[in-house]
Parts: sequence; C-alpha cells; structure tokens
Amino acid sequence: MTNNVISLTGLNKSFQHHSGDNSVLKQISLQIKTGEMIAILGASGSGKSTLLSILGLLDVADTGSYQLCNQDVSALSAYQLSQLRNQHIGWVFQNFNLIADMTVAENLAVPLRFNPAIKATQYSERINDVLAKVGLSDRASFYPDQLSGGQQQRVAIARALICQPDILLCDEPTGNLDSNNAAKIMTLLGDLHIEGKTVLIITHDNTVAACCQKAYKMHDGELSPLEDEEYRRVV
Ligand SMILES: Nc1ncnc2c1ncn2[C@@H]1O[C@H](COP(=O)(O)OP(=O)(O)OP(=O)(O)O)[C@@H](O)[C@H]1O
Ligand SMILES: [Mg+2]
Repeated sequence: MTNNVISLTGLNKSFQHHSGDNSVLKQISLQIKTGEMIAILGASGSGKSTLLSILGLLDVADTGSYQLCNQDVSALSAYQLSQLRNQHIGWVFQNFNLIADMTVAENLAVPLRFNPAIKATQYSERINDVLAKVGLSDRASFYPDQLSGGQQQRVAIARALICQPDILLCDEPTGNLDSNNAAKIMTLLGDLHIEGKTVLIITHDNTVAACCQKAYKMHDGELSPLEDEEYRRVV
C-alpha cells in the first residue's frame, strides 16, 4: 500500500479521426498523494480534460496503468467503477452543470439518488451540511438562474461534496468567474484541501495555480512537473 491516491504510469490515449489516429495523451506518469492540491496548466487542446476524464473514471486509457486508491482500475467491472466513482470522486466544471429546472436542494439530491449507501432519510441533513459549508444555507429553494455565477459554482462544489468524496477533480473551476468570485472559489477549495481532500485543478489561470502546492504542465499530450524556479516564474 502507498499513500498515493492516484498513480498513473505510462498512460496513452488516442482518438480515431478520419484523418488518422490522434494521439492525445503520451506516456503520462503522475503520482498524487492523499491530501495534495495540484494544478495542471496547458494550452487549449493539449489533453487536460481528456486526462481528467480518465482520472475520474469517465473514460479509459488505451495503454498504461491507473491505480486509484491502490486499486488497478483496469481490473474492475463497470459496476465496480461506478461505485468507486461515486465513493471517491467529486466533479466541478467550468460551466457549473446545474440542472436548470431543479432547485438548489433538488440539484444536490441528484448524486444521493445514485448512492445506495445513503438512505433517503439522510438527504436533508446532507444537503443542509454541504450548503452550510459553501455559505449558501439561505438559497436551498432558489433555481440556478436566480443565483450569481459565483453562487452557482459554490452549489456545484456542494454537489461535488455531497457523497463525501476524498478527491475533487476541477476542470477550469474559475473559468467563467470574475476575479473576485474566482478568489472566493479558490479559498473554498483551499479550505477543503486543508480539511484533507485531494484537489486536482485544471486551469489556464496562473493565480489559481499559485494557490496549489504543485503544478504540472501539459504540452501536446505530455505531462511534466513545473520545477520550483519555473513555477515561481509562471505564477
Ligand atoms: N471524443 C473525442 N474524439 C476525438 N477527439 C477528441 C475527443 N475528445 C478530445 N479530443 C481531442 O483531444 C485533444 C485534447 O482535448 P482536451 O479536451 O483534452 O483538451 P484541453 O487541454 O482540455 O483543452 P481546453 O483547454 O480547450 O479545454 C483535442 O485535440 C481534441 O480535439
Ligand atoms: Mg478542457
């Protein structure tokens, strides 16, 4: 057993295209320890979201090994993968992905319905707890379009937390926010990291990367650590 929550070795991924095979991830190796807060920077199209989809068990690599919480994911059935995903991973997206015709509380109940370990009688306590954590206890009956962008992202973070995952995968979580709301979201993600969550953030924003302990750079499907000196220059 290691204390790596995520361990990738020699991961490759291509997509078929009429012009031929498009190699998107090339020999990616990455170790993330429990409780780390990490940023991945890189140009548009460099493969960041593709990598995150594999880490979040929404897609699979062609070759290479991926161990999540010391389990080799290639050995697991579709059902086991969905269990692992529901238990360990919370997602935060750039465009919030809240369901427009559901209230905040109803949005937060959606992941609970997919989790057989959580009884319906526990839903309202879970919802109240995560809303308090993101500072939106007074917005449970609001619809997403009645909230500001920053508030919608806080609801999305509450939804990511509701099944109490240990890993948060965030794809451009501040990409649609002004700098003031972006700073609030980073404070919230930083607090979750201090509480022990493992947080992986894809970003184009150097100030977001500066909030993280470590940063990596994706370039044409290759991932490399930003060394201290380079990291200081970037941030
Ligand atoms: N399902 C797919 N089928 C074919 N090609 C794909 C697919 N998904 C992604 N790609 C290709 O993989 C490459 C990387 O895409 P990806 O979304 O991972 O980039 P990214 O680094 O997240 O970019 P951005 O910063 O713009 O979000 C792109 O060239 C894209 O066209
Ligand atoms: Mg992307």
